[in-house]
Amino acid sequence: MHPLLSLCVLWLLPLALMLEENVPLGCVPRKSVHYDGDHAHLFHEEGVFNYSTMLLREDLDLLVLGAREAVYALDLKDISKKLASVKWEVTDQKKTECRNKGKDSELDCKNYIRILHKMKDDRMYVCGTHAFDPVCDYMSYADGKLTLEKKGEDGKGKCPFDPFQRYASIMVDDALYSATSMNFLGSEPVLMRSSPSAIRTEFKSSWLNEPTFVSMAQMPESEKSEDGDDDKIYLFFSETAVECDCYNKLVVSRVSRVCKGDLGGQRTLQKKWTSFLKARMDCPVLESQLPFIIQDTYRWCDPQQPWKDCLFYAIFTPQTGTLDVSAVCAYLMSDISRVFAEGKYKTPVPVETSFVKWVMYSGDVPVPRPGACINNEARKMHINQTLDLPDRTLQFIKDKPLMDQAIQPIGQKPLLVRRGATFTRIIVDQVRAADGEKHRVMFIGTEEGTLLKALNHNGEMFIIEEIELFQPPKPIKILKISNLTGQLYAGSDYGAVQVSLATCERSSSCMDCVLARDPYCGWDKVTGKCIVLSSSQRELIQSVKDGDASHCPNADPVKAMNHTVWQGGNLRLSCPLPSNLAKTSWELDNRPLKSSSRLEVQQDGLLILNASVSDAGLYRCLSVERSKSNQYKTTVAVYQVRIAPLDTDPTALPSTLTDGHYIPSLQALVVLLALCFVALLAWNFYKGHLPLPWKCGKKNGDQSQEAHEDRGLNSHTVYQDALRPALAEDKPLVLGTGSSNNNHTGEAASFSAAGGNDGPKINLPSPQYVRDESEI
Ligand SMILES: *[C@@H]1O[C@H](CO)[C@@H](O)[C@H](O)[C@H]1NC(C)=O
Ligand SMILES: *[C@@H]1O[C@H](CO)[C@@H](O)[C@H](O)[C@H]1NC(C)=O
Ligand SMILES: *[C@@H]1O[C@H](CO)[C@@H](O)[C@H](O)[C@H]1NC(C)=O
Ligand SMILES: *[C@@H]1O[C@H](CO)[C@@H](O)[C@H](O)[C@H]1NC(C)=O
Ligand SMILES: *[C@@H]1O[C@H](CO)[C@@H](O)[C@H](O)[C@H]1NC(C)=O
Repeated sequence: MHPLLSLCVLWLLPLALMLEENVPLGCVPRKSVHYDGDHAHLFHEEGVFNYSTMLLREDLDLLVLGAREAVYALDLKDISKKLASVKWEVTDQKKTECRNKGKDSELDCKNYIRILHKMKDDRMYVCGTHAFDPVCDYMSYADGKLTLEKKGEDGKGKCPFDPFQRYASIMVDDALYSATSMNFLGSEPVLMRSSPSAIRTEFKSSWLNEPTFVSMAQMPESEKSEDGDDDKIYLFFSETAVECDCYNKLVVSRVSRVCKGDLGGQRTLQKKWTSFLKARMDCPVLESQLPFIIQDTYRWCDPQQPWKDCLFYAIFTPQTGTLDVSAVCAYLMSDISRVFAEGKYKTPVPVETSFVKWVMYSGDVPVPRPGACINNEARKMHINQTLDLPDRTLQFIKDKPLMDQAIQPIGQKPLLVRRGATFTRIIVDQVRAADGEKHRVMFIGTEEGTLLKALNHNGEMFIIEEIELFQPPKPIKILKISNLTGQLYAGSDYGAVQVSLATCERSSSCMDCVLARDPYCGWDKVTGKCIVLSSSQRELIQSVKDGDASHCPNADPVKAMNHTVWQGGNLRLSCPLPSNLAKTSWELDNRPLKSSSRLEVQQDGLLILNASVSDAGLYRCLSVERSKSNQYKTTVAVYQVRIAPLDTDPTALPSTLTDGHYIPSLQALVVLLALCFVALLAWNFYKGHLPLPWKCGKKNGDQSQEAHEDRGLNSHTVYQDALRPALAEDKPLVLGTGSSNNNHTGEAASFSAAGGNDGPKINLPSPQYVRDESEI
């Protein structure tokens, strides 16, 4: 069966059944970093929204930021400092026209800045949607002022009409390449070059079929080219597949490319690309599942390496909204290039009357090769420009722009998969680690307003941290990195923020610093700090490959905190773990603590219920984290707990012991329910409906996904002192002397039945029991 056909068949199956086993889903970030309003470099101007276009001007120390009806020049080192701004609003007349055409005057009929590019003469080219009638202009920055030249160039085909429609553009040698829709209705998609001679795509569904444009990049393929090849412009997008003949529309991811020197054909393909070729891009997240859809790409090139070694990092999200999994796939430039240069083409063949099937073309391919740039071979045939191309070649490319072979990612699988987040943008930075090895760190923006910092080392994915960039959460619309300032800039509808690429100061211990596996950071034994690698001449402790913290010096002993609790009272000892991958382990007087019904070990603390004299002692909370190389323990907190005896007369308290038979039956029911749940869970794991958590990383995962998620950004801790052990007070949560207005027989009995000594009888609300009982 044709691979796409089989995909179409699978469309009908419930998604849960398509989740394959053996697929690592939901890699957990090691750290979840909450929004820090005090230290954020945030830019937001009152009443202005949609900060989604950015241009780095490192030459001017500026971040140029395009928003709705305004462009800002911000200080690259601290973007909260506005250096200049210029308003670009639409006239009332334009607004009225726009409204009369049925558009929303407050949402659509505004000027959304969508294009910002640097020109060779240091000016900037800027375009806006301009109340559904796109306009472009030139802008300069001089004497601390941003100035628009008010040229009012037509922006059709350069900038979208619709501010909600995705688009892509790039400026190469002062020529704007743009991919957008060139009419009011948004129904005429185009990839075009505006100057010197305007060239565009043919308006045919085999060229672009309801596309969503994602990004563009250029490749200097003429550099040291043996066959005299031309530079190329690559466009990434998704579109409805023409080659899939199924009932449902199937969206596929594509990469297409055109040659920089393309001038169009003489008669056939006049003023149209003669070099437009496209191919499907696969990112096989789950085998035999619907193709994932491309959302953004980042071109990563090592300046010391030839262009063929460049990589494209791309993020993908699922076809339907039901599966909340996102993925990163990376593609090698030479793999993409090979498919276009040597691959076979697809051709439409009519079957039956109105039905067209796309199959591999196996006939003769004309010379020069259709879609190839003008190269030495063509020049030998006296074809010096695309205008000289023979009709046979042009007709071929006009009908068959689609390559037969799809482009596969490096390793045939994603670099990173994450459940529970929708990726929106990606950018990649390369860092040289302490051992000299280069690592590429991915920064991924999400719909949930967070930024993931992740790396893939030898096929093992690892998310160093997840940072909340906006509060309340706003989808990340754009990401830029400046290697000059070492900062990352992110834009959303609400504003723009800046964060450091290296955030070593988050680790306060050597263990935490090294286990973070962050190639930017290392532990300085001399100062006892986790610092940025490039800022120090000294040798730092770092282990990106294995997370090997065995070279860490012994940590300073943690000072014990004193806690006193009434006998019979409750006490919570907090133990905030430095890592989501760690587990807690408690010791009492240097022996492992035995948890019991009164001692409840929680994610980030220990709850002592109905404290008795035997609970006094020295409590130590350890964070136990596994890395690839070993298991490491660090003391997080130490508590000296004292029990203050109560001198209340126990007989004065109302006895709440009643029906003794009720408890066992209730407990039996609870046990039964728990067993059912475990069985259900086991069945789900067995069936692969739920991910097996230990598949992320190599050894990290002996905790469940749910447990990690609980400690993720969205969890709310009941106890506010959890993050600040130093402020915890010597105050029991419930003092054991209160009169009882609680007539839950079950829980009261469970406490009073515990012993016959003369301790006070305490009526404690025990959450577990209350919940279960009310559910019965
Ligand atoms: C612009 O921002 C506003 C406010 O957040 C939002 O409601 C609107 O959808 C955004 N418009 C676009 C085109 O993204
Ligand atoms: C192509 O260029 C070569 C050298 O640049 C020239 O000799 C030749 O006449 C040109 N051919 C055409 C058809 O323009
Ligand atoms: C920054 O990146 C540019 C290319 O993006 C490169 O040419 C330059 O050398 C880099 N600078 C530093 C300091 O790494
Ligand atoms: C705890 O109490 C001991 C003795 O009562 C005292 O020496 C110590 O300083 C106290 N610790 C703190 C952190 O208050
Ligand atoms: C608390 O513990 C004491 C013994 O230490 C016991 O007598 C009492 O019944 C317990 N209270 C509750 C409510 O379980």
